[in-house]
Amino acid sequence: MNSYLAHPVRRVAGTVAVPGDKSISHRSLMLSGIAEGTSDVSGFLASEDCLASLRAMRSLGVDIERPAETRVIVRGVGLRGLKPALHALDMGNAGTAMRLFTGLLSAQHFDSQLIGDESLMRRPMERVAKPLREMGAQVHTRDGTPPVDIKAAERLHGIDYLLPVASAQVKSAILLAGLYAEGPTKVRAPAVSRDHTERMLRSFGVRLEGDDMAVCVHPPQRLQSQRLTVPGDFSSAAFFIVAALLGASGGALMIENVGLNPTRTGLLDILRSMGADIEVLNLRSSGAEPVGDLQIRESALRGIEVPAALVPLAIDEFPVLFIAAACASGETLVSGAQELRVKESDRIAVMSAGLGALGVRHSTLPDGMRIEGRGEGPVFDGGEVQSGGDHRVAMSFCVASVRARAPIVIRDVANVATSFPGFAARARQIGLDVRNCG
Ligand code: S3P
Repeated sequence: MNSYLAHPVRRVAGTVAVPGDKSISHRSLMLSGIAEGTSDVSGFLASEDCLASLRAMRSLGVDIERPAETRVIVRGVGLRGLKPALHALDMGNAGTAMRLFTGLLSAQHFDSQLIGDESLMRRPMERVAKPLREMGAQVHTRDGTPPVDIKAAERLHGIDYLLPVASAQVKSAILLAGLYAEGPTKVRAPAVSRDHTERMLRSFGVRLEGDDMAVCVHPPQRLQSQRLTVPGDFSSAAFFIVAALLGASGGALMIENVGLNPTRTGLLDILRSMGADIEVLNLRSSGAEPVGDLQIRESALRGIEVPAALVPLAIDEFPVLFIAAACASGETLVSGAQELRVKESDRIAVMSAGLGALGVRHSTLPDGMRIEGRGEGPVFDGGEVQSGGDHRVAMSFCVASVRARAPIVIRDVANVATSFPGFAARARQIGLDVRNCG
């Protein structure tokens, strides 16, 4: 049952919620684990990626209870209370877990080793190892990729580091190490990236200064335990947003309780400039994060040139944006998105192969893609596509079924469970016809 069969449908509508935010769920475990006192996290994303973080925290001596699927109670051990794991920590498919844990563990008085699945073992880790070494940590990669070996740290010292890429994972790893450093640690960025770590650190009582482009952490005495509610993941909502834009057929789709942190919602800006009708309702705060409900109506999209500044703010949404672009009238150009080459798969290459198999005219660039949109009516031929083991690619091609002429078979979809457990059932709830098949 490692494939999806997605039959064409013509009407996407109703009301749906999406599971908790993946980025925030990882961070909630790490910060609660090193806080003092008991933290209570609801809305936790019980996906493979976040469960890898949960198991890692337990292996490091943190007591975590799960009274319900999406609720975790974390008994924090304090900044200096983590214990060495008895074995290598397996991060599965989770790049966020591997990079953030590298930062956190590089400051501990014990050795650690981080490993992952086949995809994660190919992903670049020097981007975190290098700044951490500048702080005095001993972090080793194997020719730039995992396993990541971390030796017990002497005292780290604060640095002033300019990120070569706008990566929230690298920024966060440095900030986590900075909690343990002598003196403040400053991270400057070439562009804005998601700021969940900064928001959550502040709610745990850590002093941070600066803005979106430069943030400085002052090492705290302690982190204070919290009660946290994780909002729905905007990146999961993205698949349903695009499905409704392509096929709400006079109705509307409502997605409730979606995290709307402005460092995550670049896709909304991009889609709106393509002509999308998306309304934010009930905008409110959920702790440190903005949350709202989204109402989406079918819209005739126009191709655009995606502004470079929006790329990091929509970094996980390009696979599904490519599907939207194929259904727009005119050409869409994405550039400055070379990071897509080093995600869970090479998302430019894997999406290109799938778009090609479904008859979409496009060309790839080293850092993006040019897509010739077909406008109205069915756009995608039926056929078979490979997800490359990439959850977001798999879900994106399910969305294509809203504008397909014939069924689409999507291969290698088990990794959807890394970010969106229960995706097919929720997709069917709003009118998609997606089923698991052999
Ligand atoms: C994430 C940051 C992004 C994103 C990933 C989650 C995070 O990666 O692609 O899915 O939780 O910090 P980069 O920061 O490496 O771009």
